Amino acid sequence: MAEAIQQLILNTLDKEGEIKDTRTLVLPGYKEPAATHDSQIIILGALNSLSSRDMIVYETHETISHVLTQEGAQIALQGSHEARVWAACPKKGEGAPITPKQLQEKVGAETAKIGQGQAFKNKWIGKEGDGFVKLVDSITDTTQLQMREVDSTGTLKAGEKALADLRKRKLIVHRKGQWFSVKKGPNFSTSTAKPETDLTVDMLTSGSWKKATYKKYNFEADGIPPNGGALHPLLKVREEIRNIFLEMGFAEMPTSSFVESGFWCFDALFVPQQHPAREVQDTFYLSDPAESLPPPKDYYERVAKVHEHGGYGSTGYRAPWSHEESRKLLLRTHTTASSASMLYKLAARCRGEEDDVEEAVKREGAHGAATVPGTGKPGPDGFRPAKLFSIDRVFRNETMDATHLAEFHQVEGVVADRNLTLADLIGFMRVFFKKMGIENIRFKPAYNPYTEPSLEIFAFHPQLKKWVEVGNSGMFRPEMLEPMGFPKDVHVHGWGISLERPTMIRYGINNIRTLVGHKVSLESVERSPAVRF
Ligand code: PHE
Repeated sequence: MAEAIQQLILNTLDKEGEIKDTRTLVLPGYKEPAATHDSQIIILGALNSLSSRDMIVYETHETISHVLTQEGAQIALQGSHEARVWAACPKKGEGAPITPKQLQEKVGAETAKIGQGQAFKNKWIGKEGDGFVKLVDSITDTTQLQMREVDSTGTLKAGEKALADLRKRKLIVHRKGQWFSVKKGPNFSTSTAKPETDLTVDMLTSGSWKKATYKKYNFEADGIPPNGGALHPLLKVREEIRNIFLEMGFAEMPTSSFVESGFWCFDALFVPQQHPAREVQDTFYLSDPAESLPPPKDYYERVAKVHEHGGYGSTGYRAPWSHEESRKLLLRTHTTASSASMLYKLAARCRGEEDDVEEAVKREGAHGAATVPGTGKPGPDGFRPAKLFSIDRVFRNETMDATHLAEFHQVEGVVADRNLTLADLIGFMRVFFKKMGIENIRFKPAYNPYTEPSLEIFAFHPQLKKWVEVGNSGMFRPEMLEPMGFPKDVHVHGWGISLERPTMIRYGINNIRTLVGHKVSLESVERSPAVRF
């Protein structure tokens, strides 16, 4: 049937050029044109199928018509209640009048009740004794005629007032209808051969693809529901740690600059230019472009000076300063490069410049507040305290093995305030790790060029039953902070931990290559539970 209707539409278009009104089509197997609601629905199905192949285009037109209610349909068939009452009564003088009880039995209680009054009013019947008789020989049952008219045409010639009256009597109701006008589409043809939905190897080798017609993409169709995305374990742990920081009043630092200069990654941190970490076997350098834009001039000069000649109570490294080394572009080896540039921004007011810390955070859409919740009001010297963190990627030119990758994530934080001490750093670490579910921590003296004192942080691993290093931290050196412009009493402590290590411990992963890279099993990513340290 569906194909026969499609064929009918195509043939009609072929013969007549267009179909102005689909209600004029005579569907296969019918004698009458398809004027009914149901037949237009069947036609719509065929139109959609043809238009999805661009064989036709069509427009929809709406109509409002009327249909009979159940009561209306009964009247169309058997006559109105009053007509049925009239028909049940004997002619005057011909037989005994019909009693109300008999009438009820004959036409039913409902019709007797409604019809009686109206038949009286119309003077069709009259009372005789305790029964009723016909007063006229014939009647015109207008209601029945109206019902029949609505049934076949959907409306009344008598007009809207009569229709409204019938609607009020609940004999007819509105019905929205549709009909369509149809024209040829760009792919018009009278053949309804099914369009291809797939391009197969066979079609390509035989060349039949050239002549085939293809089904158009239906962008409105519902797709196959996806399995649902799953966060990678690293992202879950990152979210967990991010929440700890936010809960402790930290703001996230902007860290989008994977490429940094030697200046921000090392010099600003008072890492000597001859330090082994800066060698090519440890750091990836860029070849194109190879050189960074110049750092802020005055600051650059202060940094160069403290390296070469000392200052701020330091003797410096007393080694010749290399502009070239400072301007080298590299993939940052630690997010402390970002911390350094953020601290430099934080010291802006101490240098008598505008402070754009909030703006920097906002610009990168970093998580947490756009403002820095940890920063209070600046003092008279322009300094204001700050608590900043970041969790992002770093790069090291390492030989990859089960526990090392050339790129990984660092969790980093700095706290800047007046007169902070090492005890503050230790206290902070205890609270921070406790929130990650790590209660048993120890500190070990360590060395970083930019912090003094420096502490490595060890946590007791209950499964491995041994102490494992979980982080590195320290109090930033005056050689680093004072050239930025911080007053002497401002101390900054900072720390860095890897994101991969706690994640591997958490998920019981012992080869980092099953955590990151092409060997990661998507299934295990999907199944790995959300974490709670
Ligand atoms: N940058 C250090 C690292 O990569 C971590 C650190 C940050 C240490 C800040 C002290 C202060 O391990």
